[in-house]
Amino acid sequence: MSPMLKRFLTKDLGLDLGTANSLVYEKDKGIIFREPSVVAIQKENNQIVAVGEEALHMIGRTPGNIFALRPLREGVIANYELTKELIRHLLKKALKRRFGLKPRVVVSIPTGITGVERRAVLDATLGAGAGEAFLIEEPVAAAIGAGLPVQEAIGNMVINIGGGTTDVAVISLGGVVAGLSIRVGGDAMDNSIIRFIRRQYNLLIGERSAEELKIRLGTAYPFADEEEQKEEARGRDQVSGLPKNVAVTAAEIREALKEPVAMIINAIRQVVEKTPPELVADIINQEIIMTGGGALLKGIDRLVAQELSMKVRLAEDPMACVVKGAGMTLEHLDTLKRALVGRKKSTR
Ligand SMILES: Nc1ncnc2c1ncn2[C@@H]1O[C@H](COP(=O)(O)OP(=O)(O)OP(=O)(O)O)[C@@H](O)[C@H]1O
Ligand SMILES: [Mg+2]
Repeated sequence: MSPMLKRFLTKDLGLDLGTANSLVYEKDKGIIFREPSVVAIQKENNQIVAVGEEALHMIGRTPGNIFALRPLREGVIANYELTKELIRHLLKKALKRRFGLKPRVVVSIPTGITGVERRAVLDATLGAGAGEAFLIEEPVAAAIGAGLPVQEAIGNMVINIGGGTTDVAVISLGGVVAGLSIRVGGDAMDNSIIRFIRRQYNLLIGERSAEELKIRLGTAYPFADEEEQKEEARGRDQVSGLPKNVAVTAAEIREALKEPVAMIINAIRQVVEKTPPELVADIINQEIIMTGGGALLKGIDRLVAQELSMKVRLAEDPMACVVKGAGMTLEHLDTLKRALVGRKKSTR
C-alpha cells in the first residue's frame, strides 16, 4: 500500500483523559464526543458494568450493589485497570462501524506521572486497538490547542485549570522549560464552597450544588454589577437535619474561593521565578493563555493579569484545548514531534 493511501485510511485520534470528563478528537472532524470519566462496578464481584455516560447515569438509580469510580482522581492515574477500561470504551466508541487500518492515537497525560504509568497508558491504548500510541503532556497539548506556537524558540506560558489539577508551564521548542502541577482545580474550588457554606450557615450542601454555585455566581475579581446577584444554596441544616435554603452573594462565593485561587496565583508566580530570564522576557511581552474548565471562573484572567502584571488571554473553548492539541499534533507531526513524550507501535 502506498504511504499516502495508508495515511488516508488511518484514523487519527486525540484523547484527553480528564478527571471529570474525557474527550475524543478526530482529524478533520474535531471533537467527536465527550463522556464523563466514570466506571460503574458491581460490588459483589468487582465486575465492570458500565463506562462513561451510562455509568454516570446508573449512579443513584441502581440498587446499592453498583458503585461508581473515577479512575483518574486529581488528574493522576489512580487505578490502572479502570483507566484501561475507560480508554477501551472511548476508542471502541470512536471507531464503531469502522473498517480500515488501526488508528494512531495521541493521549494527553498529566505532568508528573511516572514512567511505569506512561508505559501503562501506551499499552492500554494499544491494547484497546490503536495501531500506534503517542503521549503528550497536558499543558503542552493545551498550549497547542489554544493556538500557541509551541515549536518556536520563544517562551509561551499556559495555565490549564482542570477539575483535579492546575498545570502552569512555560513551553519553548515543543517542551516544558519550567512548570508546576498542583492538585488544586475546579474540585478544590467546589470543596472550598462546601466548607464556607457549612461554616457560615451550618448548611451542608452537595458537590453538585457547590459546582453550580461556582459556575453561576463564582468570581475571582469584584464586578460592578454583582451587587444584585444572589443564588439559593440548597442543602441540609447541620443542626436540625432538615432541608434548608439560604441566599448567598457573589462576594461570599469569592471569599470562599480565595484560598484555591490564591494557590493557583502562587503556582504561577513560582513558575515565573524558575523560568530562565530570556524566556521571562518572552512571556512578559506576550499573552499568557488560560485553558481548562476552571479558567472559566469569572475574572480569574483579570486577577492573574493584575497580580503578575502580565497580559492574559482566556483561550477559546477552554475545556476543549487539551484534546484539540492532542489531535492536532498528528496533523503536524513534522513540526510538533518534540511535543510527544512517548511513542509505541502495535506489534500485532
Ligand atoms: N463557568 C465555569 N466557571 C468555573 N468553573 C467551571 C466553569 N465551567 C466548568 N468549570 C469547572 O471546570 C472543571 C472541569 O474542567 P476540565 O474539563 O478542563 O477538567 P478535566 O480535564 O476533567 O480535569 P483535569 O485536567 O484536572 O484532569 C470542573 O471543576 C468544572 O466545575
Ligand atoms: Mg484536563
